Amino acid sequence: MRQAGRYLPEYREIRARAGSFLRLCLTPELAAEVTVQPVRRYGLDAAILFSDILVIPYALGQPLDFLEGEGPRLEPLRTAADIAALDRGSAPARLAPICETVRQTRSLLPPATALIGFAGAPWTVACYMVCGATSRDWLPARQFALTQPTAFRALLDLVAEATIDYLTAQVEAGAEVLQLFESWAGAVAAGDFADFVIVPTRRIVSAIKRRYPRVPIIGFPRGAGLALPDYAVATGIDGVSLDTGVPLDRAKALVPDRIALQGNLDPAMLLVGGAPMAAAVRTIRQAMAGRPFVFNLGHGILPQTPPDHVAALVDLVRQPIAAA
Ligand code: CP3
Repeated sequence: MRQAGRYLPEYREIRARAGSFLRLCLTPELAAEVTVQPVRRYGLDAAILFSDILVIPYALGQPLDFLEGEGPRLEPLRTAADIAALDRGSAPARLAPICETVRQTRSLLPPATALIGFAGAPWTVACYMVCGATSRDWLPARQFALTQPTAFRALLDLVAEATIDYLTAQVEAGAEVLQLFESWAGAVAAGDFADFVIVPTRRIVSAIKRRYPRVPIIGFPRGAGLALPDYAVATGIDGVSLDTGVPLDRAKALVPDRIALQGNLDPAMLLVGGAPMAAAVRTIRQAMAGRPFVFNLGHGILPQTPPDHVAALVDLVRQPIAAA
């Protein structure tokens, strides 16, 4: 996720070479190299494209910067006119280097290693576009949505359309699985969840499925809480990624079997390692026995995580379940 890579010295080396984070995302040779680094080190079953969810605002013409130690900065959108000034037409050309990264990554990866493409889901991307930076409560976005509903809907529609083009291009370039990050699902009031989260996500999923019915799509509605089962079913996704707060027995009971489950391991467990991590892995594997499950974290790997702990985790997950 957004913190991925930083725990690896080989990432930090390339990141320093690229200069800015955005330049790294837009330089296919470097971004492809960074994408395959964890696969080379650990022999993982899948790689996730190295990019960021905020490349969509960038592609729509909203200036984007990543400040060292502070995170992303965008020129905040505040009016309907700001939204009308965004330019979907220029987006595919601006995103072309990232599709080239997908192509180069696919040819670097072993054939059996899946390549996961991704994008942010419209609500989460719109939160950043309206607030201009990470926020604790995303109040400017929620206020905008409530006071200028027509303009906000136009923003969600625009982001959804640009995302459909972008994910389609990723599949054409070699992405075999797609993931939609709804990192701020937890900021949406229950009464708005369908309009802001489910409807825009379903629109993207339906459009991709019409063209590529066999490409699995994973959704990550972080903090969705009791809305998670509705999200899983109503969006049409094939897999749902569980944040660390989801009780696994509830997810298993409430999400239909045809939808794969993923995630849930607390990134702090990976940081701590040793016996607590082994116990947490055992608990997850036992809970998920007999159900399609993708072992993963419940959120991004912490930058201070020792790389050896990741190797130990991979070992644990590869052991037969009785011994694990
Ligand atoms: O494994 C990978 O390399 C995945 C690539 C990836 C990044 N961002 C790279 C990144 C992915 C999948 C993302 C998604 C992303 N980006 C999300 C959704 C997932 C989540 O974590 O909830 C969000 C909300 C963002 C937005 C974003 N990007 C923020 C808030 C930040 C700053 C974070 C921080 O802690 O400083 C980023 C920057 C970012 N994106 C980094 C990386 C590796 C760190 C930049 C650096 O190396 O300097």
